[in-house]
Amino acid sequence: MVHAVTGTLLLDHGAFLFSICHILRGNSLDPIPIARPVIGRDEIDAVTAVLESGMLASGSRVAELERSFADYCGAAHAVAVNNGTAALHAALMAAGIGHGDEVIVPAFTFYATASSVLMCGATPVFADVDEKTFNIDPRKISACITKKTKAVIGVHIFGQPFDIPAVQEICGRHKLILIEDAAQAHGASLNGKKVGSSGDLACFSFYATKNMSTGEGGMVTTGSKALNDRLRLVINHGQSEKYLHTCLGYNYRMTDMAAALGIVQLKKLDGFNEQRRKNAAYLNAHLSVNGLVTPVTPKGMQPVFHQYVIRLTDEFPMNRAAFMDYLKENGIGSAIHYPIPLPRQPVFGLKNDPDPCPVATRLAASVLSLPVHPSVDEKQLAYICDTINRVK
Ligand SMILES: Cc1ncc(COP(=O)(O)O)c(C=O)c1O
Repeated sequence: MVHAVTGTLLLDHGAFLFSICHILRGNSLDPIPIARPVIGRDEIDAVTAVLESGMLASGSRVAELERSFADYCGAAHAVAVNNGTAALHAALMAAGIGHGDEVIVPAFTFYATASSVLMCGATPVFADVDEKTFNIDPRKISACITKKTKAVIGVHIFGQPFDIPAVQEICGRHKLILIEDAAQAHGASLNGKKVGSSGDLACFSFYATKNMSTGEGGMVTTGSKALNDRLRLVINHGQSEKYLHTCLGYNYRMTDMAAALGIVQLKKLDGFNEQRRKNAAYLNAHLSVNGLVTPVTPKGMQPVFHQYVIRLTDEFPMNRAAFMDYLKENGIGSAIHYPIPLPRQPVFGLKNDPDPCPVATRLAASVLSLPVHPSVDEKQLAYICDTINRVK
């Protein structure tokens, strides 16, 4: 700030602000985006080698990524697919979910967690979430259980593991399948155990903005050989041998180009996650405006901050839309994850009166994600905090 002031005394107001932004954003005139994939020379070389090999479809790179990802998560098996939604659909199909079944999902998550249930002909039943962690509230699950309930999908939302032991206990008691939606949580852990190794199945996304990426891609992990075998049928046309289709399946296979990218990204994942945690710690320590609530990390949890999500209460000096405009004018990206709670999405055709998931509704109206990805440097973090702390 001080340097910016001394350097810009002769400028008019607009140029003065522009100059401050310029200096505090590290002499970069680009806005600070809400997400940015980190792709280096080694990713480019790995993909180029596949292109040069002529083997573009699913082959040795996919097999290598599956093995290393399973080992990374501490799971016995991993099956690579072409996106995270396919991972969820294939996991539900492998678990035998179909018409007439109900699957409990959190009310506050990305659409695909629940659309994958519809894709099986089953019905998603929404459980409300915890206001502080944004995660499925285990106390709300029991009330959603009926004779038709077959499974629970818990989401490690924004990279924070949900309360796995509590949800596992409920699933065990009611003989329900537990699926982890770990699309946003590669490498996160709870009580020293990585996500992806506790549920019957766990689903990951490698979409471009995720903590590790293959552009589009996904993975299902499982400890069960039987589920692994069924998954492999589901993702490959239900084909048990060439041109013999023994069950309904899809083409959900990953390409070797995507897998080559994933192999390099997986090696860098711990470093990316460490940087995200450092960035989040900086924001936690420096953001200070009445009514701005920073993320809460419960004891025993090691989150990976896929998103850094703040909540704005009534005491915050601006409404959320005006605040987002203010951030945009100052070159800071922000986003709402997610503006509509799932029970209110028209596709599910629910009547929400009285509101069955009031916490999810409140969160949808009050959350805001700020840049936390590994490319945000300390100067930019200082600029973000300074810009926000000036809000009155
Ligand atoms: C929680 C959650 N589940 C599932 C998905 C679906 O993954 P994909 O976009 O790779 O299909 C996403 C992707 O954003 C997600 O965030």
